[in-house]
Amino acid sequence: MTVAKNILETIGNTPLVDISSLSPNPQVKILIKLEGVNPGGSIKDRIALSLIEDAERTGRITPGATLIEPSSGNTGIGMALVCRVRGYTLKVVLPQNVSIERRQLLEVWGAQIIESPGSEGSNGAVRMAQRLAAENPDWVFLYQYGNDANPRAHYEHTGPEIWRDAPEVTHFVAGLGTSGTLLGVGKYLKEKNPAVQVWAVEPPTGEMVDGLRNLDDGYIPPIFLQNGGEELLDRKTIVGPKDSLAWTRRLIDVGVFAGISTGAALAGAVKAAQLIESGTVVIVSPDGGWKYLSTGAWTDDLDEVVERAKRIIYF
Ligand SMILES: Cc1ncc(COP(=O)(O)O)c(C=O)c1O
Repeated sequence: MTVAKNILETIGNTPLVDISSLSPNPQVKILIKLEGVNPGGSIKDRIALSLIEDAERTGRITPGATLIEPSSGNTGIGMALVCRVRGYTLKVVLPQNVSIERRQLLEVWGAQIIESPGSEGSNGAVRMAQRLAAENPDWVFLYQYGNDANPRAHYEHTGPEIWRDAPEVTHFVAGLGTSGTLLGVGKYLKEKNPAVQVWAVEPPTGEMVDGLRNLDDGYIPPIFLQNGGEELLDRKTIVGPKDSLAWTRRLIDVGVFAGISTGAALAGAVKAAQLIESGTVVIVSPDGGWKYLSTGAWTDDLDEVVERAKRIIYF
């Protein structure tokens, strides 16, 4: 056992767990990387640290800086944690209709909340943050969708951890939000073994699954374009909200309490396992299930949960 010098040193080095009992093909192993064990509860702790350390190195932020971030999701929470520990002020632009857990977690870490109209959703929060950053030039907007320190966190850490623990990997399957995970891990694994297949899981156009987006919905993250995302991805697979929820529930059978996008990634892995003869599919579980308890995902009728998720931003 070693003693971490501070909590930020405990980010990463997450466990990889064999859940092959959920594989429909006995010749295909499924391994899941549990990012919910990070101190802020998600994979986004990695990029929050990477974005902030990069900004410190390049002088974009100096002691006592104020940062602004439009995120109802894990990035806001991860940034709030890192800012609190490093002594920065964080303002988070949040749509009014986010779930109670999201708001509470940001408050726990001391982020200052600025509300944006619920009717404009997450894109409205991004627009408001861009406007506020332009009006307040001393506020720093690190913008996870356009900042190479996002995929770099996965290229330097998440990818090497997977390769170290499972060099037999044949397929990497993950949800696409900013695309940082797929770009960073995918690039690293393909450098190690060009035969590794990289599959993105996207929701159907116009639908929401926990932090994931469909690139055909009209917004392509700049990091995806800058890092050759189109050439890197071998395949995109569409998984809807109901299937994501159903597979999130199935994970309970193997003792994994995960967020809804994990169910989407698992649905993608199951499709891969059905299509290939043999191999090892590695998926990422971006977060644990705690923040989604009020969705009723594990307890209520799945159609009701899908309907409820259209009114409240849980993800
Ligand atoms: C819960 C959850 N799952 C998956 C993702 C997608 O990861 P990435 O942004 O690296 O594509 C996100 C991103 O926001 C997320 O919050």
